Amino acid sequence: MIHAHMTAWFLALILFFVSLGLHKSGKEKGAKIVHMVLRLFYLLILLTGFMLLFSININMMYVLKAAVGLWVIAMLEMILIRTKKNEKASILWIQFIVALLLVLYLGFSLPLGTYLF
Ligand code: HEM
Repeated sequence: MIHAHMTAWFLALILFFVSLGLHKSGKEKGAKIVHMVLRLFYLLILLTGFMLLFSININMMYVLKAAVGLWVIAMLEMILIRTKKNEKASILWIQFIVALLLVLYLGFSLPLGTYLF
């Protein structure tokens, strides 16, 4: 399950940048399709994340990890929507970077899967 989770969020990040890139180069239709696929990946991240969460003895660190994971997903979605409306998204980008670094740290410092920190 940990590998499915890793694959899901890794592909989601790629799809996010592809959708942004397509939008920036004026390919609205492509950007929209990739955005739809990305939303499917949000569900996969949530599904695998919650399955991991309920497969262990939950403690506060896991709850925090899950909350920050949700924060990352919210930022991905909000950045794409704001960018498509041609609105400023700099605060969201800062939040995205902070949340992503935090979730990677928390994920890799918790016992399941890769244990880096
Ligand atoms: C884009 C959002 C997310 C990212 C980038 C992310 C990233 C990660 C990473 C790097 C790991 C560690 C993998 C490993 O140790 O090999 C992990 C594990 C985990 N994630 Fe996420 N995650 C995200 C969303 C979520 C969500 C929404 C939930 C819960 C609903 C969740 C729950 C978990 C749990 C329970 C683990 C196991 C912790 C452990 O390593 O012991 N994640 N995630």
